[in-house]
Amino acid sequence: MKLGGVARRTIEPAQDGAAVLVLDQTRLPFSTAWRRLATLSEAADAIRRMVVRGAPLIGVTAAYGVWLAMRADATDAGLARAVDLLGATRPTAVNLRWALERARRALAPLPPAARAAAARTLADRLADEDVATNRAIGRHGAALLRDALARRGGRGRVQVLTHCNAGWLATVDVGTALAPVYEAFDAGVPVHVFVDETRPRNQGARLTAFELAEHGVPCTLVADNAGGHLLQHREVDLVLVGADRVTATGDVANKIGTYLKALAAKDAGVPCYALFPTSTVDWTLSDGVAEIPIEERDPREVTTVEGVAPDGTVVAVSVAPWGVLARNPAFDVTPARLLTGLVTERGVCAASREGLASLRPPTSGDRP
Ligand code: MRU
Repeated sequence: MKLGGVARRTIEPAQDGAAVLVLDQTRLPFSTAWRRLATLSEAADAIRRMVVRGAPLIGVTAAYGVWLAMRADATDAGLARAVDLLGATRPTAVNLRWALERARRALAPLPPAARAAAARTLADRLADEDVATNRAIGRHGAALLRDALARRGGRGRVQVLTHCNAGWLATVDVGTALAPVYEAFDAGVPVHVFVDETRPRNQGARLTAFELAEHGVPCTLVADNAGGHLLQHREVDLVLVGADRVTATGDVANKIGTYLKALAAKDAGVPCYALFPTSTVDWTLSDGVAEIPIEERDPREVTTVEGVAPDGTVVAVSVAPWGVLARNPAFDVTPARLLTGLVTERGVCAASREGLASLRPPTSGDRP
């Protein structure tokens, strides 16, 4: 990720070796502020309050959270407390549980004195793995953009529609759904991205538009409700979205509103792909709508909108009558039948049990 032309990751070890620094996503795009996480509770709070967000980044932050916890209390009770506290922060993204389970399995057999160093090594490894995985997703997915350009007879720009933020900012670096966009753009494929604003928190407007612009990728922000119209009028060649949890059968939980885009894409005959690392697959589940837990967030995210005031402070203004009843489900599930395919670091496959099984990592157990 280049911020002001300088290569950075969204989460980086602090120079003094006693903390990690994260890019504060509650401040973007109004300011680029780095927040220091030095304790377990600071790491848990950063995930809960969405200072860091996006399934892969949540997982890596949790791994660093375990390291911070082990520096303070490396007993069995300390390890259990860290895994429980971090695991309770956000329910839908399975990468969180996956990372915590990897940490628990790696650390539990060790003597307490060895746990902090091992936890740090693991967190660094998960961060590096995330970047390598996302680059592979980018390479596999870029073929979809090249195919789309060929379908256009090589004319104009490949028109992508994306929802929420599944780019650099949702990962340690590179991104998932946007990884092929960066890969293709850097290779000279003409591409333009329609960015859904993604109410209620506006991750599209605030984060995706920001990071695409930082990279120089042409993009246009649209209201969430514009997607169906654009798809119907053949203004979109390809819908690319991320995932927070994918069942073994290919159902995809992603940011609320993804389902409606997939429905519209299906009706319009436009290819729609979900892109994610295989750590996002919950191999224990087979019915996403029935089984994936959906996070319900504070209704005030719906009744207010955050923006920047003329004096530079971030403020929330009300957009609904005082006291109105509001609901805020943060994710929805797109059934596999609506997806053209899935893209992981292992390749592109059909959105089905057979498709995913063909890409299943040999080491993955039935539990994340
Ligand atoms: O609530 P968020 O902002 O954490 O939700 C993020 C998404 O839904 C992303 O699309 C998903 O995590 C994939 S990120 C590579």
